[in-house]
Amino acid sequence: MNKIAGAVYLLALLITYAEPLAARETVSSPDGRLKLSLWSERGTPHYRVEFRGREVVGDSPLGLVFRDAPALDTGMGLVSAERRSRDVEWEQPWGERRLVRDHHNELLVSFAAAGDDSRAFDLRVRMFDDGLGFRYELPLEETESRAITRELTGFQLDTRGLAWWIPAAEWNRYEYTYQNTPVAAVGRAHTPFTVRLADGTHLAIHEAALVDYSGFYLQQGRWGMLHTHLAPGPDGIAVHRQGSFHTPWRTIQVADKATGLVVSDLILNLNEPNKLGDVSWVEPGKYIGIWWGMHIGQLTWGSGPRHGATTKRTLAYMDFAAEHGFDGVLVEGWNTGWDGNWLANGAVFSFTEAYADFDLEAVAKHGARRGVKLVGHHETSGHLGNYEAQMEDAFALYGRLGVAQVKTGYVADAGELLRFDEKGVVRREWHYGQYAVNHFVRVLETAAKHRIAVNTHEPVKDTGLRRTYPNWLTREGARGQEYNAWATPPNAVDHMATLVFTRMLAGPMDFTPGIVDLMPHGPKAESRVATTLARQLAAYVVLYSPVHMAADLPANYEARPRAFEFIKQVPTDWEQSLALAGQVGDFAVLARQERGSRRWYLGAVSDDVSRRLDVPLDFLERGREYRLQWWGDAEDAHWRDKPYAMIVSERVVRQGDALQLFMAPGGGYAAVLTPITTTP
Ligand code: NOJ
Ligand code: CA
Repeated sequence: MNKIAGAVYLLALLITYAEPLAARETVSSPDGRLKLSLWSERGTPHYRVEFRGREVVGDSPLGLVFRDAPALDTGMGLVSAERRSRDVEWEQPWGERRLVRDHHNELLVSFAAAGDDSRAFDLRVRMFDDGLGFRYELPLEETESRAITRELTGFQLDTRGLAWWIPAAEWNRYEYTYQNTPVAAVGRAHTPFTVRLADGTHLAIHEAALVDYSGFYLQQGRWGMLHTHLAPGPDGIAVHRQGSFHTPWRTIQVADKATGLVVSDLILNLNEPNKLGDVSWVEPGKYIGIWWGMHIGQLTWGSGPRHGATTKRTLAYMDFAAEHGFDGVLVEGWNTGWDGNWLANGAVFSFTEAYADFDLEAVAKHGARRGVKLVGHHETSGHLGNYEAQMEDAFALYGRLGVAQVKTGYVADAGELLRFDEKGVVRREWHYGQYAVNHFVRVLETAAKHRIAVNTHEPVKDTGLRRTYPNWLTREGARGQEYNAWATPPNAVDHMATLVFTRMLAGPMDFTPGIVDLMPHGPKAESRVATTLARQLAAYVVLYSPVHMAADLPANYEARPRAFEFIKQVPTDWEQSLALAGQVGDFAVLARQERGSRRWYLGAVSDDVSRRLDVPLDFLERGREYRLQWWGDAEDAHWRDKPYAMIVSERVVRQGDALQLFMAPGGGYAAVLTPITTTP
């Protein structure tokens, strides 16, 4: 434990006491605004949630159903309750803020069936000011096992609430355009699932610490009852467990405005502390890569005349990275197996054998000389079996070559990950099923042995495991920039302003911002980047990730030096982060203080509406002057036909001033605020 953590631990307030049992047990957040009640309604465990005295989640059921043990759903009563409180601060090795406060009240209740000891479970509830979590805990004998077929947790919402969501159980995993509908129109939806109620209260339903369990999506029953649906394994069973176990936390973030969701630490606070020990080798930073060229069709992953991953091109990218201060160069398509239809050929990837025109050793050596790291790549096309057989060797190879970060990929339809069972038979899995959930952690553990951090594409959703495994740097798990290269339609104009309040509540995203040639297929093509240039810069601040890519081609950066200047300097590790203004799907303004510095960065993104906002600079240090440099949309900019119209300017500001910030349709705004040190 480091000094700060030690001191913080001593300050921890820990009170445990039992009390006489009520028919209905309640527990509130430390500020008293959020309240959860638990009771048994005709034998079925229930809960409800109120915020500022109003119901936000109505009477909702709890329970678990098993294949070969009696269900925990009826005939259950509340038999005990225990409380404790905690107020500690802990430090993140990297993150959107260095110090995180964990301040909560806990209630642990037991539900049991009268006269039947085998039918009992505990429910642990933690109430924070920014939301709550609860989980089922099952005390079992070491040899006892459970095959979970269903979880009965419901979330009763007002059907008139407005929801932002992506469909679940569809082939494209989490990579969908967000829908904005009344709760009544939701079918199956992934989490984080964000809702605005009529009184302006914002909620987001999600889960924390998804470990050795299946992920859930929400499925609407009648009248706004959202049921949890656990992904099944190949035998139809959602989760197999042996001995005592607990489920992941079922979480509800609650805030009186949209920006309150953005700064919530609920998900991280409900995860276990760092298990990896010294993680000084996990490094935030920025990378470029042999990547966009393939997505826009100029280069190929597979071998041939347009092969992207050649030694020559990689050395040139490394020189470019060194010259402009990037930490790494991602190289996709260097290993054999990409030829033919790589989407369907997961079984033939080698993770150690290079194509003839790629010299892995030479590339790594050149990088070491230039102070630039090779960023590794493992595309599995969803063949977990092929990958698992080679994983140890693959990470050992990268580890030996000084690779510090590997991007993994699982391009396969949802439900179509392939693995081998004990008998060597191929089985199909969901990206959010128990097997895959455990696979992702095994990858992290293997990578950690070689001091390598991981960036997962086509992952399971983020549930805050970066706290426990700080080498899980970032992931995709939503429509990223790649869709602007080839999809019809590309990402919606309001995509970023929606991501901030939905996907980003789960954790960092490798969106790969910074495209500066916004129409790679010409002005008539449907696939293009539907943002202004300024918004591509703002994305670095607005969408949090400890590693961000400068995704465009080096030549395009050379052609747009003013935009490139911001991309080069923006950091990816923060002392603190603030959400200054925003509405889900409309706009967002965030400010972040660089870690270990007094400098602030500010980013704003809009939807297809042009906006003028007054943003008070209250967060600046009092009495200090700052040089504000900004990159903003020109008055006549428009994402559709004038996206490059950008003003770059500067002035002096101080606390008490307000920024008059303008964003064009599809626009954005990026700024850096540097303290001016007065020389004595
Ligand atoms: C999908 C990933 O999201 C993308 O970044 C990558 O280039 C391709 N898979 C190939 O691995
Ligand atoms: Ca993807």
